[in-house]
Amino acid sequence: MGTLRTLDDISPAGRRVLLRLDLNVPIDGGRVTGSERIERSLATVRELADTGARTIILAHLGRPRGRHDPSLSLAPVAAAVADALGRPVAFATDTIGDDAADTIASTGPGDIAMLENLRFHPGEEADDPDFARALGALGDIYVNDAFSVSHRAHASVTSLARLLPSCAGRLMEEEVSAIARALSHPARPVAAVVGGAKVSTKLAILDHLSRWADHLVVGGAMANTFLAAQGTGIGASLHEADMTGNAERIMRSARDRGHVIHLPVDAVVEEDGRPVSCGLDAIGREARILDVGPLTVAAVSRLVEGCRTVVWNGPMGMFERDGFDSGTVDLALAIADLTQSGSVFSVAGGGDTAAALTHAGATDGFSYVSTAGGAFLQWLEGTPLPGLVALEAA
Ligand code: 3PG
Repeated sequence: MGTLRTLDDISPAGRRVLLRLDLNVPIDGGRVTGSERIERSLATVRELADTGARTIILAHLGRPRGRHDPSLSLAPVAAAVADALGRPVAFATDTIGDDAADTIASTGPGDIAMLENLRFHPGEEADDPDFARALGALGDIYVNDAFSVSHRAHASVTSLARLLPSCAGRLMEEEVSAIARALSHPARPVAAVVGGAKVSTKLAILDHLSRWADHLVVGGAMANTFLAAQGTGIGASLHEADMTGNAERIMRSARDRGHVIHLPVDAVVEEDGRPVSCGLDAIGREARILDVGPLTVAAVSRLVEGCRTVVWNGPMGMFERDGFDSGTVDLALAIADLTQSGSVFSVAGGGDTAAALTHAGATDGFSYVSTAGGAFLQWLEGTPLPGLVALEAA
């Protein structure tokens, strides 16, 4: 990743600032039920408002596929942002057109407005030039603080950066600098810890990491596919039989580069609904592996102790079920301890990872936990993110 312009490089006072945020938060019965993305977006909103900008928030909610869907209105999100800020947020019932223009015209320096869901217009996801121009006409400056949407080449993510003077917001700066430190110019050796259910959904990531990471630790149900590829008995455990060829290829690719793949050396299986730790040679025909075992956690912790950077995506087991969360929890706590002692720089993100670390009580111990799902995964794949490419070129 190259260098990003930041809020320090612009003069927003009195100007109309189009601020792209990721406020794709859970909503139930018209109320926001998870506010982490809102909390982590507030720094930029406050800073812009305090410098006297007229801040116009652009965001999406869900996947309405270009149609107006009242259940995906951003109105409750605007109310939650106003509550969190302790300041009023004017809400426009459309994203472009008269209502948006009138709402913005009614703002003064330091005021905040939010426009309705970008994805109610098909032009957003299609990155339609007319839609982008109509959006761009509403502002003087574009600030992108939505790292977790930067894998989408949508009008509000890429085109606005080309149409207006642009820069990154504070959350974007924080995400990019932490993830780049771990993935783009890491202190080596690097350990990549990847868990989750399926090899097939993370094939590109595993391929890239086998070539890039000094150590690749595979956990979760996807490790069963690797174990099966090696001929280890996995009983009745979830695995993808049609992916064993890919698992072999990934192991070869790591070996060819002098990298090491680490698979579980023991497991926690379900027996009569209860968790039982056992060695890999003791897995019965009916047994289902639902977590990595304590010897695996100890081995991976020792490995990470000898590394300088660790990147984590995906849980080690079925951490949502009582008794099958120890692999995820104990490893997360071990990495958090090593991070706090200063021996390793640790970054986690993507999918269930933030929830798993919260469950483990390890979030604060990591160097950085990303708010991003798909964008983090795309960076892990080594694929450029269109939103960042556009910001860097701006
Ligand atoms: C996310 O929740 O990861 C972002 O808001 C992107 O949402 P999307 O996957 O619907 O594009």
